[in-house]
Amino acid sequence: MCGIFAYLNYLTPKSRQEVLDLLVTGLKRLEYRGYDSTGVAIDSLDNKDIVMVKRTGKVKVLEDAIKEHFSGGEYSEPVLTHMGIAHTRWATHGVPCERNSHPQRSDEGNSFVVVHNGIITNYNDVKTFLSKKGYEFESETDTEVFAKLVHHLWKKHPNYSFRELVEQAIQQVEGAFAIAVKSKHFPGECVASRRSSPLLVGIKTKTRLATDHIPILYGKDVDSSKASVLPRSDSTSEFMPEQKEVEYFFASDASAVIEHTNRVIYLEDDDVAAVRNGILSIHRLKKSLDDPHAREITTLKMEIQQIMKGNYEYFMQKEIFEQPDSVVNTMRGRVRFDGQSIVLGGIKDYIPEIKRCRRLMLIGCGTSYHSAVATRQLLEELTELPVMVELASDFLDRNTPIFRDDVCFFISQSGETADTLMALRYCKQRGALIVGITNTVGSSICRESHCGVHINAGPEIGVASTKAYTSQFISLVMFALVMSEDRLSLQQRRLEILQGLSKLAEQIREVLKLDNKVRELAKDLYQHKSLLIMGRGYNFATCLEGALKVKELTYMHSEGIMAGELKHGPLALVDDSMPVLMIVLRDPVYVKCMNALQQVTSRKGCPIIICEEGDEETKTFSSRHLEIPRTVDCLQGILTVIPMQLLSYHIAVLRGCDVDCPRNLAKSVTVE
Ligand code: M6R
Repeated sequence: MCGIFAYLNYLTPKSRQEVLDLLVTGLKRLEYRGYDSTGVAIDSLDNKDIVMVKRTGKVKVLEDAIKEHFSGGEYSEPVLTHMGIAHTRWATHGVPCERNSHPQRSDEGNSFVVVHNGIITNYNDVKTFLSKKGYEFESETDTEVFAKLVHHLWKKHPNYSFRELVEQAIQQVEGAFAIAVKSKHFPGECVASRRSSPLLVGIKTKTRLATDHIPILYGKDVDSSKASVLPRSDSTSEFMPEQKEVEYFFASDASAVIEHTNRVIYLEDDDVAAVRNGILSIHRLKKSLDDPHAREITTLKMEIQQIMKGNYEYFMQKEIFEQPDSVVNTMRGRVRFDGQSIVLGGIKDYIPEIKRCRRLMLIGCGTSYHSAVATRQLLEELTELPVMVELASDFLDRNTPIFRDDVCFFISQSGETADTLMALRYCKQRGALIVGITNTVGSSICRESHCGVHINAGPEIGVASTKAYTSQFISLVMFALVMSEDRLSLQQRRLEILQGLSKLAEQIREVLKLDNKVRELAKDLYQHKSLLIMGRGYNFATCLEGALKVKELTYMHSEGIMAGELKHGPLALVDDSMPVLMIVLRDPVYVKCMNALQQVTSRKGCPIIICEEGDEETKTFSSRHLEIPRTVDCLQGILTVIPMQLLSYHIAVLRGCDVDCPRNLAKSVTVE
């Protein structure tokens, strides 16, 4: 949902061309967040103005335009201190076009330029106010309102600092935002802030930082230099920030900064981060009782290779093939196969409380929601608690009753999905215990949960979620196993699940060998308009997830159908031309699935069947089948979803779709 990247070099000589390269690379890392249009802003050669380049389309288009625009030798002259901002957009207000691209500006003179992620909900009111003051708007964006508001405040309060101006402006706006602001009146300075949209600051220094914390400053009259994180001088204990080289990277997520530094500060809602004279300081207007005194500088664990495509053509393809490793990483240090025990460090202290709860609620969106559907049955079986699964948006629409003795799980790859985050806050306010299941350390869901499980799948860049799904699935299975540890009657069942988990990585490797066969099936399917995916029991979630993948990546219609519902309507769709895929495995619902298969074949349907290796009987019903290794029923969904991921991937490639950046979508949906 829009990617923000800003770069400030203080006493670190960089030419404008180098700065632009850094900005463009930052945008490439963030492109999965939105790819409708892009833009950058840097200082003009005489440092008196700001130059912007904006383009509709992907970062590559911008990169080419930049090369054309800044080709002169003067752009390769080093500049000691400079600040540039960049943006990749997922359109919310106004169609993708250069006029609506960010940075948005305050006036024709480019006094203030802003990049923004999120939605300013009261932008119409602010716009009306500013129009009355004589401002004319050139875009349809909500962001432009913010740039002009800062300008208005600057005219009104000429003595305010840059940080104070932005601080005043954020108090006037409602909604969700992460912003970075640049001004020609405050060269070499950057001010950034967030509310409900992610933003972090990466810090790069030549020598070790003086501290792992940066104090938070409150109120108006504050001395920023007290908040320096820069290295102390060797000879004295004084801060000497103005003599130290430093680079700052403001970004929507860590993947954009990891190649420069692994030292980051995750900003909290309503933090205002300002860099002036090379000093970063974090300010808040009001102090509340539970506010910490400082923001911690975190060391990122991410490796640069994790965010590169390597030998794969697409991130999605890489992420599908990473699953034998990512599932092991999810279990690493948690599951002891020899001792048959599981420890989930992030929730272990809360297990007694969870065992006493009234019900478990699993809440998420899209693929994350499907991981809840996939594991619900096992959770019910092993916890013997009522388990509700909820789509976050619908959950909020219904004002669902929540009680203090509910335990609510919020499942999210990004940890930033607005609907899920809103649902979390709703449940927290009502006193429920909040458990986060996320893939992104430091994300909002992570930080706002009482406890949780990091799924440790590694960065997922492809917009279509793949490895995060299988890791969410396993995390929830591990939770069910922890909850049933002391239940004698369940020991045999637990044992077979643990054995199943121990074989998973190898079995996933086997399933991935179906890739060529799946590509051949994709050739049969890619020109069709629709694909029905049927199954039930533990595999119903795979049908929903498979259909979501097909829709999202190939723009074909696809529907995940509960096989038990066939006779209640969907069977009418079946004839000899309708593509159907059915999951029929040897588990407690096998007979019912066979029944559905017969209903389909007797209507001349010719389904592709996903069945178990060596199941000759099931295979007789169709000439097209994909055989997967046998595993325990509750883990089948991990193996059956992989052919669906591959199938959607291959259909998308055959249809010429942009696999990693499907149209109209973005990876992290930070707006409701
Ligand atoms: O980051 P989250 O897991 O909260 O994202 C939820 C959905 O937006 C996401 O799973 C979406 O459905 C995927 N693009 C599906 O592949």
